[in-house]
Amino acid sequence: MMKLNLLEKLVQYRRLGNSGLKVSELSLGSWITFGPNLSLNNVKECMRYAYDQGINFFDNAEAYGNGLAELMMGEALRDFRREELVISTKIFWGGDNPNATGLSWKHMVEGVKNSLRRLQLDYVDLLFCHRPDPDTPIEETVRAMDTLIKQGLIFYWGTSEWSAKDIEAAFKIAKETHTTPPVMEQPEYNMFNRTRIEKEYTSLFKRHQLGTTIWSPLNSGILSGKYNKGIPKNSRLDRQKWLSHLLTEEKIQKVKKLSSIAKELNCSMSQLAIAWCLKNPNVSTVILGTSSMEQLSENIQASTVVPYLDQTIMKKINTCLKG
Ligand SMILES: NC(=O)c1ccc[n+]([C@@H]2O[C@H](COP(=O)([O-])OP(=O)(O)OC[C@H]3O[C@@H](n4cnc5c(N)ncnc54)[C@H](OP(=O)(O)O)[C@@H]3O)[C@@H](O)[C@H]2O)c1
Repeated sequence: MMKLNLLEKLVQYRRLGNSGLKVSELSLGSWITFGPNLSLNNVKECMRYAYDQGINFFDNAEAYGNGLAELMMGEALRDFRREELVISTKIFWGGDNPNATGLSWKHMVEGVKNSLRRLQLDYVDLLFCHRPDPDTPIEETVRAMDTLIKQGLIFYWGTSEWSAKDIEAAFKIAKETHTTPPVMEQPEYNMFNRTRIEKEYTSLFKRHQLGTTIWSPLNSGILSGKYNKGIPKNSRLDRQKWLSHLLTEEKIQKVKKLSSIAKELNCSMSQLAIAWCLKNPNVSTVILGTSSMEQLSENIQASTVVPYLDQTIMKKINTCLKG
């Protein structure tokens, strides 16, 4: 994937897959943090700081805080020039009503309109299908996306956590029906979860130059090393008990080993883990999740660590991850 150095900013830009859109290699997400960790003032402060460091892409979803994350981002966006930003949302979990979930034509259109209202925007740059929907034919979703693009409500569409088989099917349908194909996928990718990006999607990268906006680069914070001595009070895994299954003894042992590599490179464990994601050329952007300004300013520095991840270091990392 081509790397562009457009501005003298910390964060650089990459093409989003085969499209002409440039996204910052680091971006900022709003899941669980906008609201529970960050007040509106904090959100405004973080988005401004991120933008000043070169971040142009901000990620959202109709499901985040049942719309609260979009409402907060919408308020913060009033202080920016729209053309300078890439804003996404995701449709799938829009409420309890049977037609407020999934990827039907009806929910795609109504969901996007509701998201735009909360975000106070005329369009989003990126729209994701937040999950695959076995109840809706892929062709219905592809046609709905194409219509949303033609109506100017979205610019590019993609998927999140779809199988390679389903994404390939979407490309095939788009070709046959002369509609717009997907541009990007939003999969989880971090040192502990590598299969989709490194194996399953290989043919999609080759055949379609699929872009990726990857999530949970720290595996919800585990890769920061903060859980090495137990669960800190008020951390994500303390507050969101339903995520506690993510923490295992095996992961903790691996992070302890990886920490010595971070020490050798004179960076934090979080920076090492994020830089490692950035090193993969099939990653268009790494979506950061941060609960505070301190975490954001630390994690953004990950861009400066990438040049130090040479073959020897990457081998050492792989050895730690093997056990
Ligand atoms: N498409 C999808 O299905 C999907 C799913 C999940 C996320 N996402 C997107 O991806 C974004 C990022 O995901 P994520 O929030 O899971 O990312 P993550 O980087 O794996 O986890 C972020 C959390 O880790 C902790 N953390 C971050 N930096 C730290 C540091 N330097 N030191 C100590 N702790 C640190 C914070 O939690 P504490 O509260 O413990 O401090 C922070 O909220 C989301 O905001 C969302 O936009 C998409």
